[in-house]
Amino acid sequence: MARLREETKAHHDATEQVPYSQAIVAERLGLESYVAHLQALAAIHEVLETRLAEATHPTIVAVWHDGLRKLAAIHQDLAYFAARGSVSLRHSKANFEAAAAVTVSFLDWLEGLACDQPVALLGVLYVFEGSMMGSTVLRKHLAKSLDLDAERGLAYHSLYGREVRLRFMDFRARMDASVQDSTDIREITSAASETFDRVGALLRCLHG
Ligand code: HEM
Repeated sequence: MARLREETKAHHDATEQVPYSQAIVAERLGLESYVAHLQALAAIHEVLETRLAEATHPTIVAVWHDGLRKLAAIHQDLAYFAARGSVSLRHSKANFEAAAAVTVSFLDWLEGLACDQPVALLGVLYVFEGSMMGSTVLRKHLAKSLDLDAERGLAYHSLYGREVRLRFMDFRARMDASVQDSTDIREITSAASETFDRVGALLRCLHG
């Protein structure tokens, strides 16, 4: 995990710098961009969680558990926005068609990994697990600027509550104990870097 962190650090920092992330911190992200991000995350987590849960590879079985699932929280947020009524796309600084294409390509890539090198899915999982630490910062800005809370549109970013670090330490321990093979380590690291880049590409479509 130390190597994973080190080798993907530049990719993390680039993702943190995209206009979408910066707009959240500056408290000027449009609601429509936020909802479109949740829609993309729902599609990605649907495939990622399904493929990890059904995997039989011993390394994945040793790391994966149901407590890592995030899809229900994302669906809860989307249900809240659906019940609240349509989100206006006016004044949007987003290219939603491009975001949909990037998401479809992300899903194709995940399905390919699940077939050809399933252990690499742990690199994808690492990025989304770690992103929950960013969520502790982002959710405060989103709550303030978009008038949301954990029950109203912020369930995903609030999912681990005060246990974010604890959860990540547990994930780190499981990964360190289970991932030993040098080919697996290479594949996981490469998939994590690519995940950051794909997330960055998605976020660039969601706020220009
Ligand atoms: C403005 C946006 C972001 C902020 C402010 C932020 C902030 C943080 C913080 C504070 C940490 C903990 C660092 C530490 O304890 O050393 C972290 C870790 C991490 N973040 Fe972000 N983050 C952002 C965006 C993202 C995004 C978009 C992703 C991926 C989808 C991401 C993935 C990760 C990962 C994987 C880690 C774990 C690094 C490790 O291995 O320790 N972050 N982030």
